Amino acid sequence: MPYYRVAGEIPRKRHVRFRRPDGGLYAEELMGEEGFSSDSSLLYHVHPPTAIVKSEALADVAAETGLAPNHPLLPRHYRTQELTGRGDLVLGRQPLMGNDDVRISFVTADVQSELYRNSTGDETIYLHAGAVRLESVYGTIDAVPGDYVVVPRGTIHRWIPAGPGAAAGEPVQALVIEARGHIRPPRRYLSQTGQFLEHAPYCERDLRGVAGPLLAEGEDVPVIVRNRGGLTRLTYAHHPFDVVGWDGCLYPYAFNIADFEPIVKRTHAPPPVHQTFDGPNFVICSFCPRPLDFDPESVPIPYNHHNVDSDEMMFYVAGDYSARQGSGVGIGSITLHPSGFTHGPTPGAVEAVIAGMDAGRLTTDETAVMIDTFRPLLLAPQAGHAEDPEYAWSWARADR
Ligand SMILES: [Fe+2]
Repeated sequence: MPYYRVAGEIPRKRHVRFRRPDGGLYAEELMGEEGFSSDSSLLYHVHPPTAIVKSEALADVAAETGLAPNHPLLPRHYRTQELTGRGDLVLGRQPLMGNDDVRISFVTADVQSELYRNSTGDETIYLHAGAVRLESVYGTIDAVPGDYVVVPRGTIHRWIPAGPGAAAGEPVQALVIEARGHIRPPRRYLSQTGQFLEHAPYCERDLRGVAGPLLAEGEDVPVIVRNRGGLTRLTYAHHPFDVVGWDGCLYPYAFNIADFEPIVKRTHAPPPVHQTFDGPNFVICSFCPRPLDFDPESVPIPYNHHNVDSDEMMFYVAGDYSARQGSGVGIGSITLHPSGFTHGPTPGAVEAVIAGMDAGRLTTDETAVMIDTFRPLLLAPQAGHAEDPEYAWSWARADR
């Protein structure tokens, strides 16, 4: 993030003596991307952030089940309501699909996670239901439905369901996007020096940083660390949240999908107008309520299309997705339209939307999150339990 923030107490300059009330020195820690050549933050700990006392291997159930090619090739439809597993927001993730660039999971969380550090890449959590608090070494974010919470690689954090505003007993449901690299606003939205440009569909005012820092005390504190080798439980001599202050441009932040300003054309606009984030070899897009395309002759829903370089995953969040009426897709559905298959509206959907426009319906209330990947998505076996086996034939069924 190219947006400077400061929290708590920091010294006058970088790398100078900064003393605790007892006269000892605070321990300065740089969290920096791309080898001292990109965004970073400096954190000031009461105790050394280096002091570990134990390291234990941890089974990684999700990763060990393996991903398999989408073969024989099919468009897929999963109903997240049928994923029955529960747990915490880290170890309770149920993988759906992934490749070497990104892993996509769904989670229903009703308990607090352990402290966690993902050192393989940034994560974006899209909160679908419930309320959850992110506690991190930088401070806290209270997330509500519709929030994308971007957690930079290496951030020690935990997730606590039922934050302020949560309905009693309502579990947290979230789509989890784990990148093998960084997740950032698209470069074309930013000035050369990193400010959001006027044409961008959101800007700095829409991003919520952390409140804090937290100043936690504790000894022998376990942290689950993910690296390329798998999961490790590292025990720290002191609580990693012993931070009195930090400053910089690297920190977790939240952006709510309702703050995305849709861009509308006279005739149908392609998905890049909905782009929200950029990852390594993938993009995240937000489809939000908006006026329908406004030419009197417009066909206001997608044309049939084959993105020959992409697999396309869509998570249907709210509203009425007119293009796929009658296909079985509803709120909570996830579809995968892979390269090798042309997809588009259900036969008859175009005519129905045109008839609706003629009757005065000039807006769409759909909300959806889309992930387009530039390498094929492999499928997780767990997802098969929630798959609609009839989905692939839904276009032909409607055409008969
Ligand atoms: Fe598409």
